[in-house]
Amino acid sequence: MLEIRDLRSRYGRIEVLHGITLNVQSGEIVTVVGANGAGKTTLLRCISGIQPVSAGGIIFRGETITTVPAYRRIRRGITQSPEGRQIFTNLTVEENLRLGAFLFSDDRVDRDMEDAFQMFPILREKRNLPAGGLSGGQQQMLAIARALMGRPSCLLLDEPSMGLAPLLVQQIFDVVSGLKARNVTVLLVEQNAFGALKIADRGYVMETGRITMDGPAEALIADPRIREAYLGI
Ligand SMILES: Nc1ncnc2c1ncn2[C@@H]1O[C@H](COP(=O)(O)OP(=O)(O)OP(=O)(O)O)[C@@H](O)[C@H]1O
Ligand SMILES: [Mg+2]
Repeated sequence: MLEIRDLRSRYGRIEVLHGITLNVQSGEIVTVVGANGAGKTTLLRCISGIQPVSAGGIIFRGETITTVPAYRRIRRGITQSPEGRQIFTNLTVEENLRLGAFLFSDDRVDRDMEDAFQMFPILREKRNLPAGGLSGGQQQMLAIARALMGRPSCLLLDEPSMGLAPLLVQQIFDVVSGLKARNVTVLLVEQNAFGALKIADRGYVMETGRITMDGPAEALIADPRIREAYLGI
């Protein structure tokens, strides 16, 4: 579904992605794990089209989209839930969700919202309240739900577990895991390597702008190098 080939990206004169190659098959949950500053967010921003690519290519469903503008990539089915949630705190929960559906004006928007409320009942309870009043975990749920309102076939998730208490972290990973049943293909970027690998089919390890390991998630969890460097076990 998604293929990244030898992708390079820079901020000014400083290159931070030094040739990333990875792929995501339809229906998979694939995770990219890596420490602070490895380039995970930059990679997702390249895929969604808000970060310029200096070399290499991005192929989505067989078509090269490397220079396709971000708004067109959303129409093709790529949606990103950004790092730090980036919800609109002054708007209500419902308004945030409706913004996620800005591409659509059909009846399905209401059904999608109903769907979101079934996935996240707390969002229904708070639908008319300002999103800024939600807890961190609830805001993360809203960020994911908002992204789903865009009806993505490929969802890019940037550190959904960041800053959450352990119980909520598990809840968020459960939700991501459940996206499979909804035919959403997921590229999940995480510093929480263990949590991400536990729900992923395959994983890539990213270190300072390069992929240093990849494989089935269980194999990575079992690998002594990963266990020492990322899992603390
Ligand atoms: N706007 C920017 N301008 C200049 N350098 C940047 C910018 N954003 C990120 N960088 C640098 O690019 C590198 C990769 O950053 P990036 O945010 O992609 O990493 P990350 O893996 O997402 O980190 P984290 O886990 O902390 O979110 C880092 O060295 C970072 O300092
Ligand atoms: Mg990041």
